[in-house]
Amino acid sequence: MDDQLDILIVGSGVAGLTAAVKLATESYNGKLKVGVLTKGALDESTTRWAQGGVAAVLASEEDSVDLHLADTLKAGDGLCDVQAVSVLVKEGPKRVQELISLGAVFDKGPEGQFSLAKEGGHSKARVLHANGLATGAEIERALVAAVKDTVAGVYENWTAIAINVENNKVIGVEAIDEFGNRAEFKAKIVVLATGGAGQIFSVTTNPYEATGDGIAMALRAGAFVADIEFIQFHPTALFHPKMPKPLLSEALRGHGAKIRDKNGDRFVDELLPRDKVSYAMAAKMAEQDCDHLYLDATELPDFAVRFPTIYESLKSVGLDPSVDWIPIAPAAHYMCGGIVTDLNGATSIDGLFAAGEIACTGIHGANRLASNSLLEGMVFGARLVDAILSGTTASDSSGVLGAVLQNKFVKEINTPKNQFVFNTDSSTSKSEQIAFLRNELQLTMSKYMAVRRDPIGMNKAYEKIMEIHSLLDNLSIAIKDSVDYISLCNLVTLSESVIQSAMAREESRGCHFRSDLPYNDNVNFLGRIVHK
Ligand code: FAD
Ligand code: SIN
Repeated sequence: MDDQLDILIVGSGVAGLTAAVKLATESYNGKLKVGVLTKGALDESTTRWAQGGVAAVLASEEDSVDLHLADTLKAGDGLCDVQAVSVLVKEGPKRVQELISLGAVFDKGPEGQFSLAKEGGHSKARVLHANGLATGAEIERALVAAVKDTVAGVYENWTAIAINVENNKVIGVEAIDEFGNRAEFKAKIVVLATGGAGQIFSVTTNPYEATGDGIAMALRAGAFVADIEFIQFHPTALFHPKMPKPLLSEALRGHGAKIRDKNGDRFVDELLPRDKVSYAMAAKMAEQDCDHLYLDATELPDFAVRFPTIYESLKSVGLDPSVDWIPIAPAAHYMCGGIVTDLNGATSIDGLFAAGEIACTGIHGANRLASNSLLEGMVFGARLVDAILSGTTASDSSGVLGAVLQNKFVKEINTPKNQFVFNTDSSTSKSEQIAFLRNELQLTMSKYMAVRRDPIGMNKAYEKIMEIHSLLDNLSIAIKDSVDYISLCNLVTLSESVIQSAMAREESRGCHFRSDLPYNDNVNFLGRIVHK
C-alpha cells in the first residue's frame, strides 16, 4: 500500500473494532488516517461466536465491582495483576453503556431491567447477554456497522504475516492476500487484535482462523509474551465429530443444567471456575475409561425459547435437550496469556499496541473468569485509544509489562527470531501436505497438552512439533506463500512456546495441571514465565 496510515488495526473482533470506532470518532474529527486489516470478512472473528455474555456490574444493590474483582482474582489462582483487574471491573460498565449507545441490544426482563445470568466462578448473577445466548453476534453486528460508518480504510481478506520494526519502533505490517499477493501497510502505530490460538488443538471451540498469528509475529519481532501455558478448556463442548466443537454455554449450568458421569451420577459442583470443572471431568473420564460425559438440561423449562441458538445446534445433530442427556467433553477455548502489555495496551516495542485475547494484561492470571473476555476487549481496546490520542506511543511501565521490565518474573525463555522463510518465488502449492501437517500438530497437542499434562507427554509433544518444524523449514524453499502455510508456521511457533512454558512451570496452577506436580508451588512459581 502506498499510503501511510497513522494507525493500523489488525483484527476485527471486539478489541480491534472497539479501538477502530473510538479512534475514528475521537481522532480530531477524523484527521488521523485509521485502517482495519483483517484475515477474513470484517464480521469474521471469535467474538461473533461468543455465547454466554459480558460480565459487568451495571446497577445492582446486591452486586459490586469489588465482588467482581474478588471473583476474578480467585479464578486467576494468584497470577492476576490486581491493578489491571481493577481497571477492568471499574471501566467495564461504562464501555458496555457505550456499546449500547452504538446500537447493541442486550436482553431485558419484563420490567425493563437487564436480564443477568450467573456463570461458573461468579458469586452473583452479573452476565449480560443478547438474543438468548448469541451475545457475540450482537456485539460484532453493532461494531461492524459503526466501523463501516467511521473508518477510512478497511482491508478484508488480508493476513498480517510480519510486524515491521526499525530501531525498536514499529513502521508497519507485512501482509498477504488470499491470492498470495504481498504488500507492506505502513503505519506509525499498529494495534494487534488478532485473538487467540485455539487451533493449536484438534478439539477446540475456536474458529479456523484462530491460529495465534499475532502472538507468533510478536515473538518474531522481539516483544515479550507471557502466561501462554494457561490454556483454558471449556468443560461443556458438544462431544461430536463436528469441528470446531459447538459450545454449550456455561449459562446453561447457571440455569441449573447438571454434569453427569457415564453412570448418571453427579461428581462436581457445576459452578466452580472452569479449570476446576474441566479437571474434574478429565479425571472422571480417565477413571471411567470413557471419552465423554453428559450435560443434563432436561429440567430446564422452555429451552428452545430461552436458548434458541443452542437448541438449533443440538437439533441439527439429532438431540432434544428436553429428553436427551447431551454428550460433552472439555475443548480448548481460550488463551489466558499473550503479548505482554502495560495498562494502556502498549507493548515493549514503541508504537505497537495489543488488546483482547492476544494480550497478556494480567487480568486472567492462570485462569479466566467466565465472560470477562469480551469485557477485556472493550476496556483495553478503548484504553489504548485514550493513550494514543494523548500522544503516547511507548509503554509507561505499568501493569504486567512494568513488572517484566523490572525483571519480576520466574523464568525467561528465548525464542529464536529467524523462524521460517516467507518469501519465495516458487509457484508450487502443497495444500494437501499443509493440511496433513496441521492435523498432525493439532492431534499431538490435544493428546499431550490438554487438561492434564505430564513430562513424558510434554516431551513427546515437543519432539513431534520440532519434527513438523523441520519439515516446514524444508518445504519453505519450494512452496508458494499462502495463508494456510503461514498460519501453520504460526501454529508451530505457538505450540513450541506453549510446551516450553508448560515444561518450565514445575507446578500446577489454574488451567495448567501437571499430574507429576499436582500442587501450587508459591515459593518458586508465583510469577510469570516470559518469552522474548
Ligand atoms: P477475535 O474476536 O478472535 O478477533 C480476531 C480478529 O483477528 C478476527 O477478525 C480474525 O479474522 C483476525 N485475524 C487473525 N489473525 C489475523 C492476521 N494474521 N491478520 C489479520 N487479521 C487476523 N468470551 C466472553 O467474554 N463471553 C462469552 O460468552 C464467550 N463465549 C465464547 C464462545 C465461543 C464459542 C468462543 C470460541 C469464545 C467465547 N468467548 C467468550 C471468548 C471471546 O469470544 C474471545 O476471547 C473474544 O471474542 C476475543 O476477541 P478479540 O477481539 O481479542 O479477537
Ligand atoms: C460460555 O458461554 O460458556 C462462554 C463464556 C466465556 O467463554 O466466557
